[in-house]
Amino acid sequence: MKFIVGNWKANGNKNQAGLLINAISKLNTNNKIILCLPFTLLNVKTNGVYIGAQDVSAFSNGAYTGDISAQMLSESGINYVIIGHSERRIYHKETIDIIKKKISLAIESGLTPIICMGENAKDKKEGKTDQKIISELNQILPNNGNFIIAYEPQWAIGTGLTPTISEIKSAHTTIHNLLKSKGLSKNPIIYGGSVSIDNAAKIAKVRYIDGLLIGKASLKKETFVPIIESIR
Ligand code: PGA
Repeated sequence: MKFIVGNWKANGNKNQAGLLINAISKLNTNNKIILCLPFTLLNVKTNGVYIGAQDVSAFSNGAYTGDISAQMLSESGINYVIIGHSERRIYHKETIDIIKKKISLAIESGLTPIICMGENAKDKKEGKTDQKIISELNQILPNNGNFIIAYEPQWAIGTGLTPTISEIKSAHTTIHNLLKSKGLSKNPIIYGGSVSIDNAAKIAKVRYIDGLLIGKASLKKETFVPIIESIR
């Protein structure tokens, strides 16, 4: 069983979500499918597909206009929430401190955070991928609770570029070893960044990969369903 997580970002509408969920629900798959939808679509009919949000407030409650708290998400019946996606770090200036607060509130509220992390293009060019992974995880890893780590090299998101299989293997081994050293190895590690039908099955087979986080290719059944089916 692999986790296959779709991240719709600011895309889609109710009709499209319904069509995709309906197509997924007809598949005969062992994989666990989680669709992370915009807030306004979180009340879709789930038909056995797990639903997640793409962000959560760093505050538990109070005068924070526009925020949606972890407790609210949990009460809405969803199970997962993406936290620390690079698009939030870049466009909304989310810092490690903010991300840490979100992770702890999500876990306290019974949600499973899908924690995104990974090196940027500069780190990679300077050969600092491992260093970046280790230092970031040391800062953001919760001590307990269920979570999923999504290794997403920032330069691979939405670019059509991916690391080589051996680079992915190396990064996931580093993450696995670090989780293991902290007694956290039961938590899955998934890969994200330009996953498509051309590379999904190959990447999913790599050691210490428990699943995939998929943006663009998760938007339509024509691209998402074949990916789900390619992973056995
Ligand atoms: P992508 O997005 O698959 O379109 O590269 C991945 C993500 O942002 O999680």
